[in-house]
Amino acid sequence: MTKKNVVILGSSGYIGNATLDVISHLADRFTVFGLSVHHNITLLSHQIRKFHPKVVAITDPVQASKFTPIHGVKVLQGTEGLIELATLPEVDIVVVAVSGTNGLYPTLHAIKAGKSIRIANKETLVGYGELIMPLVHQHNVSFLPIDSEHTGLYQLLNHKDSFKRLILTASGGIFHNRPIEADISPADVLKHPRWQMGKLITIYSSLMINKGMEVIAAHYLFGVGFDQIDVVIHPEAIIHAMVEFIDNSIIAQLSIPDMRLAIQYALTYPDRCTAIVKQLDLTKLTGLHFYPPDDKKFPALRIAYEVGTLKRGYPLVYVVSAEEATKAFLANKLRFTDIPRVITTMVESYHPPPTINLDTLQEVEHQIRHRTTNVIEDIIASYRN
Ligand SMILES: NC(=O)c1ccc[n+]([C@@H]2O[C@H](COP(=O)([O-])OP(=O)(O)OC[C@H]3O[C@@H](n4cnc5c(N)ncnc54)[C@H](OP(=O)(O)O)[C@@H]3O)[C@@H](O)[C@H]2O)c1
Repeated sequence: MTKKNVVILGSSGYIGNATLDVISHLADRFTVFGLSVHHNITLLSHQIRKFHPKVVAITDPVQASKFTPIHGVKVLQGTEGLIELATLPEVDIVVVAVSGTNGLYPTLHAIKAGKSIRIANKETLVGYGELIMPLVHQHNVSFLPIDSEHTGLYQLLNHKDSFKRLILTASGGIFHNRPIEADISPADVLKHPRWQMGKLITIYSSLMINKGMEVIAAHYLFGVGFDQIDVVIHPEAIIHAMVEFIDNSIIAQLSIPDMRLAIQYALTYPDRCTAIVKQLDLTKLTGLHFYPPDDKKFPALRIAYEVGTLKRGYPLVYVVSAEEATKAFLANKLRFTDIPRVITTMVESYHPPPTINLDTLQEVEHQIRHRTTNVIEDIIASYRN
């Protein structure tokens, strides 16, 4: 079997590291051809010594200037470097595992270059899906999700005929069984019960912003209307996704919660291989529970349905305002309960540009980031009154 050359954009992050773990396990199938980090050049040096990539990219210019070259490894810089890395002729698969909307340009260019894309970076998919998905279809590239719920759906939709609705599960986060306290600290919210994740995504999960983004991502990935995508709370996080068919039978995808399974499936598709992930022992389960999401407690989920339906940059406003508000909360400036308030304010005051294209959406992102910061500052100022 010819080995496939994989590039991991964001190799220093949680998903990037998990992808390297999966590739170590499947070393007969995949070669790490390229890696990228933003700041973490120390980890990059370790990864170079262990995985021997041919090319790396460092997006932060200050860190790039501090990096000591390693013999035989080409070093690229900035977003331009990220794009070059994702489009080199030797590359077969591009894993987009950077955070925020930083995956936009490399993803667009990798699609145009005909690369197979494995996308974890849902902020880019949600914010710019209305540009990305037509390009995927136009270039007929392989475009698979890396996320437990979407991987589950991808497998289930092999029975695509006559399905009625897609069901994404949500663990419910720490507020499933307790009221949301306005003055809760970042450290308290970061104690997420089921999934090990980065800080931003853990906060998103606790407010169901992450689930909202997954609903929009499911719409783009599977071309399914929002009225056919449902969310149920499932605290055990054993069932990741379900598909209901017109005869009312439901097929579910189950596994222990471990992102490496989603990564492995995306890399080896359409094959299945033995995994490093532990087997699910059904006899040890004490129960599987399901609850409807509480719209009043978690307004961000309802807003995701609204912005997803509206498109025209609304999903981008959702992604960007959520990111800025969450960063302000993590910096101990904004109250937790004001995160959804910031998103609501930004979505309600948004006026889409007359035409939607890459330039106008980039301008929307720029403006919304700026205006969200002002809205956050006004809210913080009101705490002092
Ligand atoms: N964690 C999960 O369980 C999970 C599940 C599904 C999907 N996702 C999605 O996967 C993506 C990555 O999540 P994560 O949890 O792995 O995040 P993470 O641990 O914060 O890692 C983010 C990665 O992006 C890089 N990065 C940060 N800023 C950048 C910039 N301006 N330009 C280029 N690269 C930049 C980071 O580099 P440095 O480390 O050098 O700063 C790091 O490699 C996110 O979009 C997230 O929503 C995550």
